[in-house]
Amino acid sequence: MDITELLIDRTDLASAHLATRTAAVGEGQAAFAVETFALTANNVTYAAHGKDMRYWDFFPAPEGHGIVPVWGFGRCVESRVEGIAVGDRAYGYWPCANGAVLTPAKVTPRGFVDAAAHRSELSAVYNGYLRADPAMGDERIQALFRPLYITSFLLDAQLGEGGGTAVLSSASSKTALGFAHALKARGNWHVVGLTSRRHVSFVAATGCYDSVVPYDEVGSLTADSRAIFVDFAGDGALRAAVHAALKDGLAASIVVGDTHWDVAGNPHAVGPKPQFFFAPAVLADRLKDWGQAGFDARLAAGWTAFTAAAADWLRVVDRAGMAEAQDIFTALVAGRVDPAEGIIVRP
Ligand SMILES: NC(=O)c1ccc[n+]([C@@H]2O[C@H](COP(=O)([O-])OP(=O)(O)OC[C@H]3O[C@@H](n4cnc5c(N)ncnc54)[C@H](OP(=O)(O)O)[C@@H]3O)[C@@H](O)[C@H]2O)c1
Repeated sequence: MDITELLIDRTDLASAHLATRTAAVGEGQAAFAVETFALTANNVTYAAHGKDMRYWDFFPAPEGHGIVPVWGFGRCVESRVEGIAVGDRAYGYWPCANGAVLTPAKVTPRGFVDAAAHRSELSAVYNGYLRADPAMGDERIQALFRPLYITSFLLDAQLGEGGGTAVLSSASSKTALGFAHALKARGNWHVVGLTSRRHVSFVAATGCYDSVVPYDEVGSLTADSRAIFVDFAGDGALRAAVHAALKDGLAASIVVGDTHWDVAGNPHAVGPKPQFFFAPAVLADRLKDWGQAGFDARLAAGWTAFTAAAADWLRVVDRAGMAEAQDIFTALVAGRVDPAEGIIVRP
């Protein structure tokens, strides 16, 4: 099949171009047309950490370039695999491209894994594909929120007990909004959103936060009660300023994201040592505590509540073609995307 991919310059994420190649479908492989995928800051984080966290290794690219992974839906167009038929559709991790050749294994009525040799050492959570299920609702909402909301949910599961003040940076991001929504629903947290000045009114209007503070007023932060800082921005100077403002009131500092990917992450911060949030470990703990059915029921309840609330502030925007994907990725790298938009590409 002919596949058009977005090749990103590994040394300059703002520089990317489209290239088309012909891919063969070998025995044990299946070709998929990538039908829809979401693009958010999370995909830029994959690119920014393409080398150190091995996100470039999922979909190999020509020397010096990387193909960023995206979440969405694909449809089988050719199959040489038992159990996968032309027309089968699956949700999972795709290249930022209009097609992909996978090596499906462990095929069940629920899904399959990509057993391509180059993916075998990579994190298993990214190698699983689930058959598309109409019962899961709007696929555009799934493509946008499924990869992000699981982290929002696990953050709430890990940090939500007790109560106090929670300060979240990049408060306009979808992952932060999901977490803020869950914390606020508990009723025992004062949830503070930190964001760029131009995003203050959007963040306030979501209703997910009790108060919103622009980054340039971070020095005004106070906490009457035990405080936690949950950092989605990854900006070291901002983190140091939050720690300095909250002083001894700061009980924990958790690093989740890196939306401000082009600034340094590690200036010295007073107070608690920042801890990296490792979602798979929390997931394993919760599965042990709640069992699969208990976990699924809680996740589904949180998902339903958050996606219903998000309908008030989210504007799903459909874009067609890989040239649009290129434009959007470049805009995301530069931080030029309106947080109210949820961008879906039909490549
Ligand atoms: N560790 C995990 O398991 C995990 C899982 C999911 C997501 N995450 C991380 O959480 C973060 C949020 O992801 P998302 O997909 O939810 O984001 P999103 O909804 O696309 O976030 C958009 C917001 O991020 C900030 N931003 C985006 N690009 C920027 C740029 N180039 N420069 C400065 N600010 C920029 C802006 O927020 P402000 O103006 O409010 O700063 C913007 O409104 C990402 O770093 C992602 O990787 C981590």
